[in-house]
Amino acid sequence: MEQYEVIVIGAGPGGYVAAIRAAQLGKKVAIIEKRKTLGGTCLNVGCIPSKALLDSSEEYDKAKHKLGDHGITIGSIKIDIKKMMDRKDKVVGEVTSGVDYLMKKNKITRYLGLGKFVSKTEIQITDDDGKTENISGTNIIIATGSTPIEIPPLPVDGKNIITSDHAIALDSVPEHLIIVGAGVIGLELGSVWGRLGAKATIVELLPRLFGTADAAMAGLSQRILEKQGMNFLFETKVHGAKVKGKKVEVEIEDKEGKKTILEGDKVLVSIGRRPNTDGLGAGEIGIEFTERGRVKVKPNHFQTNIPNIYAIGDVIDGPMLAHKAEDEGIAVAELIAGQFGHVNYRAIPSIVYTWPEVAWVGLGEEELKAQGIEYKVGKSVFKANARAKAMNEPDGQVKVLADKKTDKLLGVYIVGPRASDMIAEAAVAFEFGASAEDIARSTHAHPTLSEILREAAMDADAKWSIHS
Ligand code: FAD
Ligand code: NAI
Repeated sequence: MEQYEVIVIGAGPGGYVAAIRAAQLGKKVAIIEKRKTLGGTCLNVGCIPSKALLDSSEEYDKAKHKLGDHGITIGSIKIDIKKMMDRKDKVVGEVTSGVDYLMKKNKITRYLGLGKFVSKTEIQITDDDGKTENISGTNIIIATGSTPIEIPPLPVDGKNIITSDHAIALDSVPEHLIIVGAGVIGLELGSVWGRLGAKATIVELLPRLFGTADAAMAGLSQRILEKQGMNFLFETKVHGAKVKGKKVEVEIEDKEGKKTILEGDKVLVSIGRRPNTDGLGAGEIGIEFTERGRVKVKPNHFQTNIPNIYAIGDVIDGPMLAHKAEDEGIAVAELIAGQFGHVNYRAIPSIVYTWPEVAWVGLGEEELKAQGIEYKVGKSVFKANARAKAMNEPDGQVKVLADKKTDKLLGVYIVGPRASDMIAEAAVAFEFGASAEDIARSTHAHPTLSEILREAAMDADAKWSIHS
């Protein structure tokens, strides 16, 4: 039986990054993945295909509604969904084969098949033909990720009642897309199909967007999305969905108890994801789980109750984000190699890739109040920024929250174009324990969108914003 110092189960952003870092640190590493292509949910059916479609649909929307303002007139605008999907598949193909290259470059042995614990140190790999092979590892990292949550009232059939796995691969634009769950997937894929012409109705149990994130900034994002035609039904329950020919009838109930039937041609179920532990054999060898079925680990040590077995990414607690999984992958490999791997969860940014984008790091006003932390607020709007004007993208705002006494950054929220790139500066500032004044006194190139963050930091520091 082949023996490894580190075996990683699952080749998503958590697993493949852990494997590379362990190999860089001199370990003999194997990675087991049941999918034919590497990269996990993120590269195959998550972050990358959804962003490819968001970018394509943004270009369509720009051509249809925005280029005229720049003095550019083009003839009739058509969408070729097949070509759009082919481009998305090409992007996915390139990034997943990029991971293959990285495995080879770092001399990591790749096994194709389902990994299952036989003992604390032995894994059985079963391929699609049922052929098995066992390997043994001194250290084993579970990085098996997550899959969409399905519930009995919404039986997913992959045609009319679908998950994100199907919504990134439709062959035509639905007339009416009913989305259950106003989370990140609902908003992003709702934006894609909404821009391409679908009516998008989002049914959400809670009264607002983005859970505990800053309510005013969530409200700002909601208003902009509503202006784009997205229709939200908050505090609404879904009782069931029935497929009738090519249509689906969804029974909903509002907060007053009034029941209605919504008729659409597709229902996207995007109510969260559950950890992937089916067929892994983890319970059988005594690995403990949390109440919600995630693998239980020592906080920031990624070690399960069995000391040589670790877990990272979506399969453990915390936000289900690719960059969180990657950072945990680096940290766990460093810990296994005897170094001091660590993840600063306070500095992990969240991003919603709608247009304009929404991005934040740290706490919002409601959470700060709930924790009794005294804070100051600084704001700056995109319409006061020369670059945003030049881009003809005036919608949005930056909010900086800083400690009232020490000026230390507590939260940065951005609703605006390219917020996803702008938030990196705030995340680095958090990592360095920066104050609002640190950002305010750093030179920001002109004219750039990053100046809006600086202006908001000036406003938070001592109300000395120059341009607003
Ligand atoms: P995964 O990426 O889920 O990888 C786990 C891998 O393990 C899978 O390939 C699976 O096949 C394999 N596996 C499972 N069990 C076994 C087994 N027993 N044996 C062998 N292999 C196994 N996050 C972001 O940060 N930014 C985004 O823009 C973003 N967009 C998203 C869009 C969509 C539509 C979705 C669905 C998710 C998105 N996410 C995004 C979330 C992101 O994809 C996940 O947080 C991330 O992929 C988690 O990484 P992971 O390595 O923990 O698990
Ligand atoms: P989510 O957790 O973001 O949102 C689910 C939403 O569904 C919540 O608002 C919840 O209140 C609501 N909900 C739950 N049950 C419901 C019900 N029965 N009826 C109506 N509403 C209900 O989950 P989502 O959007 O499925 O995404 C899954 C994961 O993927 C997220 O954890 C997210 O972090 C990750 N992801 C990240 C992206 C990004 O970083 N840009 C993009 C897409 C996904």
